[in-house]
Amino acid sequence: MTVKPFHLGWFLNGTSVPAWGQPFSGAIGTQWQSAEIFVDLARAMERACFDYVLIEDNTFVGDRYGDSMEVYLKHAFQAPRQDPMIVATLLAQATSKLGIIPTAGSFAYHPYMLARLVGSLDQLSKGRMGVNLVTGTSDRALQNYGYPGMGEHDSRYDTAEDFINASLALWDTWEPDAVVADVHTGVWADHTKVHRADFESATYSTRGPLNSGPLPQGRPIISQAGGSPRGIAFAAKYADTVIAIQATPAKMKEYRDKVREAAVSFGRNPDDVKVLFGIWPTIGSSQSEADDRIAAARAGVAANLEVALAAMAKSTDIDFANVPLDVPLGELGLSTNGTQQFAEFSARNATLTLREATIARSGAAGPALAGTPDHVAGLMEDIMAEVGGDGFLIGTNGVTRRFIAEITDGLVPELQRRGLTRRGYSFDQLRDNLLEF
Ligand SMILES: Cc1cc2nc3c(=O)[nH]c(=O)nc-3n(C[C@H](O)[C@H](O)[C@H](O)COP(=O)(O)O)c2cc1C
Repeated sequence: MTVKPFHLGWFLNGTSVPAWGQPFSGAIGTQWQSAEIFVDLARAMERACFDYVLIEDNTFVGDRYGDSMEVYLKHAFQAPRQDPMIVATLLAQATSKLGIIPTAGSFAYHPYMLARLVGSLDQLSKGRMGVNLVTGTSDRALQNYGYPGMGEHDSRYDTAEDFINASLALWDTWEPDAVVADVHTGVWADHTKVHRADFESATYSTRGPLNSGPLPQGRPIISQAGGSPRGIAFAAKYADTVIAIQATPAKMKEYRDKVREAAVSFGRNPDDVKVLFGIWPTIGSSQSEADDRIAAARAGVAANLEVALAAMAKSTDIDFANVPLDVPLGELGLSTNGTQQFAEFSARNATLTLREATIARSGAAGPALAGTPDHVAGLMEDIMAEVGGDGFLIGTNGVTRRFIAEITDGLVPELQRRGLTRRGYSFDQLRDNLLEF
């Protein structure tokens, strides 16, 4: 079966350094402030012709596990995390083709502030910017901004919809040809082509126009990660790229089909919504080396179960320190107002205990891909053949320069050799590259 080329994104877990104690991690535990390893990563991504790097974020230090920050800080788990907008600026400066998508919580900004910030970044990067708009998965993030906690799940998406509509109205305040910069007539901008937004909704209002001027891309790339029906509807209505984690190719296909159907129901061309699936590959020079590394990772999780449980506690808002480890998940009846995808994880692993499911997952959701570059490239080809598109979001539980090289100098050349991923960028702007295939 021939597979059409697919897209590659990198899922950067913020600028935290949880791999600081691992082999081949250099001195990242003490050098993290300069974010140099992430600059190296961006340059390597660009060499490997990734479409974009997505900078994940949540704006709090975890303490859900056992009601303490201890595990999170001891293991540098998602803390420290520098502001993704600042990191995006640094990565934009270090690259010229790679797309950059920082995450923003709708609760953490006013739409005008975000529209101006991302608009400015789109200008500075010459049209390579996006924004991953999230509604938050924990009360803690909201509490840092003065709210008591998260609103009810679906109503968060209603607020996010107001937010995005306000932002779009602001990005649209400058017509593309408003700036003429004509030295002969002495006119820099044609004021008849710059408009007020005059946006009013239940949650936000904004007057406009945006004082930072037009964006090279008109609007930045919108990324979304909704997993629930309401989340999928939101993504299908607004997103240019949807990021998702699904355990099997069948689930990926089902998810992508749902997003595409929903996009059609909103009058959009489904090919304009690129769905990228999270994978956490383990690459070795031989199959046995890769298998050994998976076994070592599982043993590491088993020996330090609290780290994996604390990670899940942070994203689900469930305190796993108070959940029995050796009772089947199906009997526990856990639920959350955070990510609804945990319900799916519980249902899929209903017969496993929390301990067993956590070790099997080994800190990474998505399908297990392990082996030589050639073998993993083949697995990715097979998955895309079954799913139909549109690509993968590659992640790791902790960036080291060794892992970067395994992907960009090991795996990607194999994908390119098979004609599955691009060997060069056809365009300067992110949207054009995303829409190329
Ligand atoms: C690949 C991926 C990346 C995500 N990145 C973030 C993030 O950076 N920050 C955040 O607060 N939530 C993030 N989320 C959580 C989503 O925003 C969303 O809450 C989650 O997918 C659940 O969707 P649902 O609420 O529609 O079930 C991410 C989810 C996925 C699947």
